[in-house]
Amino acid sequence: MVTETLAGLRTRLVVEGGRRLAGSLTVPGAKNAALPIMAATILCEGEVVLHRVPRITDVDVMAYILESLGARVREQPGGTLVINSTSVTSHTAPYALVSKLNASFDITGALLGRFGIAEVPRPGGCVLGPRAIDLHLDGFGRLGASVDLEHGSVIVTGRRLRGTTIPLAKPSVGATKNLMLAAVRAEATTRIENAAREPEVVDLADFLVAMGARIQGQGSPSIVIEGVRRLHGGEYTIIPDRLVAGTYLLAGAITGGDVTVRGLDPTMLASLQEVLRATGAEVAAEGVSVRVQAPRRWTATDVTTAPYPGFPTDLQPLIVAYLSLAQGTSTVEETIFDARFVYVSELARMGADITVAGRTATIRGVPALKDAVVEAPDIRAGGALVLAALAAQGTSEIGGLEHIDRGYEFLEERLAELGAAIVRISAAEPVTLRPHVGETQDLAAIVSAFGARPAAGSPGTQPGG
Ligand code: EPU
Repeated sequence: MVTETLAGLRTRLVVEGGRRLAGSLTVPGAKNAALPIMAATILCEGEVVLHRVPRITDVDVMAYILESLGARVREQPGGTLVINSTSVTSHTAPYALVSKLNASFDITGALLGRFGIAEVPRPGGCVLGPRAIDLHLDGFGRLGASVDLEHGSVIVTGRRLRGTTIPLAKPSVGATKNLMLAAVRAEATTRIENAAREPEVVDLADFLVAMGARIQGQGSPSIVIEGVRRLHGGEYTIIPDRLVAGTYLLAGAITGGDVTVRGLDPTMLASLQEVLRATGAEVAAEGVSVRVQAPRRWTATDVTTAPYPGFPTDLQPLIVAYLSLAQGTSTVEETIFDARFVYVSELARMGADITVAGRTATIRGVPALKDAVVEAPDIRAGGALVLAALAAQGTSEIGGLEHIDRGYEFLEERLAELGAAIVRISAAEPVTLRPHVGETQDLAAIVSAFGARPAAGSPGTQPGG
């Protein structure tokens, strides 16, 4: 047995590939709805009870940000958060927390709407690209606020915001959410034109309406917000996560399996259904469930990401993983982010044949993927590597779980329920003698060398937001 020392190796997912996934699961709450809704509680006077909040680390970070501003956040079993932001006194968000989460810039609009001033560290770039905020800042300016940059923080000041028409140069999800938050307690009426239509934007608007806001047109390119003086507390249930649902459907498909996701409106996944059908998969959408049955070998197809209702950029890495095993050559064009193909080199280490030119990936389908030790560079690319490992021959290891855990709750437990051989292992640092993955090809041996994570109890026992 070959042994080696790998300093720095910490927690990893170990996946024994080649098992067909089958079964059904209920989709957890949407990260990209939960985070802005948590931020929106800053605008509410009274207690807000949020149900179906996903147990992911991004939610934890947003909860810490709210607490650092003075809010009280309590978790109840089963994915419920009780947030009281009445006690928020600070309009200054701490860099240490905000820098961990791009979505945390959402608190800018909420703080501005509540206090007439917000001081929030400018989001840095990330692995997906520069994460520009020009549309957010331009919109705040149109509402009557002044915008300054000091010591790396954006300071937005506007004691009397006044509604106006804000035409967005592109339907930015973040700008639409932030401007909606700023406008909801402004004087007069705000109209956001070319607004993002993503279901998570709609969910934020629906939450605000449930707390007393007057908003119309969410889900269309024109959102109209009539300012109100105050928002109250209340109870709200977050929509299910269409991206997590898509991940499980593709996990089933890539293993030649048969997976059903339950609890979400299938139209949220219409573009994915269309692509899967084009590859020869059988897709059945009924009521609040979607079932995908994979063919023995699927065919290539072309995909272009686009704002909702187009094919989501967040499912781009996952569809690339799936198409890497298709018969024929596919192209996938990424139109939303500048740098969303960085993970392709990791897929190549598993035997995928992909070349990237600018914003287009050309994927020449291979008959099989092989095991490898790979590193997730971001949340969805992490999902794609897990998918590839599930389908690959042999036993793969996936690192970078700090990214995966930002967006997927109980990923390995849920995949195991569908029949996957997947386990999370932890190793003390520095790691000493370990069996070489390529030689052992044996999940049990690797787990015994590292020690599996203690069995996760019921989802409700896991620490959360
Ligand atoms: N953009 C600008 N100027 C702006 C704002 C955005 O040029 O002022 C550009 C961005 O640089 C990017 C594109 O527009 O190239 C899209 O940005 P958008 O604002 O729509 O996205 P986001 O709000 O930063 C959210 C999700 C992402 C998801 C995108 C696109 C959250 C927390 N994040 O990001 O989700 O990919 O919309 O749908 O809602 C994820 O969940 O893993 C994730 C990255």
